Amino acid sequence: MDTAPLRQLLDEMTIDEKIGQLVQLSGDCFGGGDIATGPAAKIGVTQEDIDRCGSVLNVLGADEIHRIQDAYLAKSRLHIPLLFMADVIYGYQTCYPSPIGLGCTWDPEMIEGDYQVVAEEAHADGCMVTFSPAVDVVRDARWGRVVEMPGGEDPYLGSRFAEAMVKGFQQGLDEGQGVASCVKHFAGYGAAEGGREYNTVDMSERRFRQDYLPPYKAAIDADAKMVMTSFNTVDEVPATANRWLMHDVLREEWGFDGPLITDYAAILELMNHGVAADKDEASKLALDATVDIDMKTDCYAHSLKRLVEKGRISEQQIDEACWRVLSLKNELGLFEDPYRGCTTSDAARAIMCTPEKLSSARACADEAMVLLRNEGQVLPLAKEGGRLALVGPYADSKEIVGMWAIHADRSHSCTVKEAFDAVLGEGAYVYAKGCDVLGPEEYGTLGEFARFAGGGEPAEDQEALIAEAVSACADADTVVLCLGEHPLQSGEAGARTKLRLPAQQQELVRRLHDLGKRTICVLFAGRPLVLTDILPYADALLMAWWPGTAGGEAVADILFGDANPSGRLTMSFPATEGQLPLYYAQFPTGRPAGKNHTGRFVTGYLDAPNFGLYPFGYGLSYHTSALSDLTLDREVLHPGEELHASITLENEGPVAGTDVVQLYLHDCTGSVTRPIKELKGFERVTTESGERREVSFTITEEMLRFWRRDMTFGSEPGRFDVYVGLDSQRVLSASFELEA
Ligand code: BGC
Repeated sequence: MDTAPLRQLLDEMTIDEKIGQLVQLSGDCFGGGDIATGPAAKIGVTQEDIDRCGSVLNVLGADEIHRIQDAYLAKSRLHIPLLFMADVIYGYQTCYPSPIGLGCTWDPEMIEGDYQVVAEEAHADGCMVTFSPAVDVVRDARWGRVVEMPGGEDPYLGSRFAEAMVKGFQQGLDEGQGVASCVKHFAGYGAAEGGREYNTVDMSERRFRQDYLPPYKAAIDADAKMVMTSFNTVDEVPATANRWLMHDVLREEWGFDGPLITDYAAILELMNHGVAADKDEASKLALDATVDIDMKTDCYAHSLKRLVEKGRISEQQIDEACWRVLSLKNELGLFEDPYRGCTTSDAARAIMCTPEKLSSARACADEAMVLLRNEGQVLPLAKEGGRLALVGPYADSKEIVGMWAIHADRSHSCTVKEAFDAVLGEGAYVYAKGCDVLGPEEYGTLGEFARFAGGGEPAEDQEALIAEAVSACADADTVVLCLGEHPLQSGEAGARTKLRLPAQQQELVRRLHDLGKRTICVLFAGRPLVLTDILPYADALLMAWWPGTAGGEAVADILFGDANPSGRLTMSFPATEGQLPLYYAQFPTGRPAGKNHTGRFVTGYLDAPNFGLYPFGYGLSYHTSALSDLTLDREVLHPGEELHASITLENEGPVAGTDVVQLYLHDCTGSVTRPIKELKGFERVTTESGERREVSFTITEEMLRFWRRDMTFGSEPGRFDVYVGLDSQRVLSASFELEA
């Protein structure tokens, strides 16, 4: 409808009805299931609150949407439809790799297309808003939610993926297609101290703006319709109560005028944070911060009216919040079609997991995998003539789809073993489980939540499984081991201090290697692992992340050379947990380790290197490439001008392949110290064996801007280093001057 009748609708609403629009409840309140993640099962809402609430959390399925919407509208005085929102993170029934893997494609164009597919499936099942993308920059692999972050440790990469994902989800939104995107978790959630879940976030405003805010801003600039607050504090004020962050930055500076929703029960948690004594106070703080929707608590439902009556908040604040919710409902066309095009679950089923969608998931998984090690070129494997064994707890498991794949249709996913059968033929290789993912003790740390992930309880006697595998592999010359974390060891509340493979998995690798087998480890995980312990025993390491529905086939594609690996890391892999947080965009120090500063009194550790095991941007392929001749077309750059950096990439064979050529810049002298390298551009380049290709990047003064000493945003004249490389360490360099 037009704005005028919508305004009129708002005018007709009672204060209770307006407050209702600001309340979000989950499916259990509507006689359905509650698959939500948080702890608030009984939240004290009444039937009246339910009949008035404005949106529903995590209910999907066209039939269910019709049932709930119809019952709700039948009782509703003004017939304002419910808005259905859900966590559709990296796929719906067709699942793509988890976001940490998606990021490793360095291919935002492809991901934009893939997210249109995700949106198409979710839309058909009634999803109107998705709580995605999460774009928290994260530099500490102890934090469990690294699995959800496509940009990993880097604000530029994170920004590129944020805009790609938002555009993908929202493609066709005006024509009733796609789903609205709610970017989260605003802001800084990924910087939790010590990587400890829900922990304090504290840093300078400069650092916050420079490194943590850009991906959210990119999502807003790409027109994300909603924003979710984060659980953490920012400068000692919880984000959900942080008016500076929500109002001054998000709304005033960035111009965001859509609905702002809390994360799960975050208003209630303001009391635990110690900034509100009771629910009234908590609700006032959140509304004053311009937070519009209270996810799954009774705070707004029961406090806002009293606060208005007492004059502690104004009715106008409620009107403004309600207006933003109504406007989104109107923009999504709900007043014309309260189901937004979803008809029946049977109709929806017809568009799910089609062959085209499954093959796009496979292509994406092929690109997401990162080959970390390939000693003696043990990979790719020959399809014939070898004596091969496939071993490990993930060799014949569909759990590789990962933990946020709530709606994945597992009937379409095949295991690595099934993919091997398709390539080699059943019985053409040996299979053994080898051990469970976790031993009984570690399994116990997952608590009662463990039952949500399949795989079952581990056997008491892991040694018996190992011995069985060792004897099964006696005649093999090459063993492919499918190993990794448990899906619940990352994700929300999946913070850990030990990032190594479980003991029995390490033992399995060692024992097979000691028998003289070539050992190829395929790793399934939601975060960078510490691989130092298994390095001496692994001839090849392939990081497969959680590769989604087509994960089994994609592993086979890579191992047998049908796809040449092109994934590159988005997070530095630590050599030891003590190096965390770890990231390439370090700042210089007064005593940098290097040729002029050696010995004890340099920046570093006594017992560990400064660098991780594998750097940001790193990954191997089945071809090797070399860069040469970095040239800049001018020595001096002025505002308004363009400088072009070009470099020659040569594919040295033996096969065609794709490289990610990466551009980094360094501001040598500034009013504040500047990172030693910052990613400013990248290009995926595909070459034939033996082909040489020139790659060029454009550098402008805008790319050199930062938050200066006086907290203005701009560039400063002086010398800049340009680095171009195939990862963040192996680079060629040149430099230029910026003049005012
Ligand atoms: C998570 C969010 C999620 C929300 C709704 C919270 O626990 O932090 O990422 O969108 O639950 O399920």
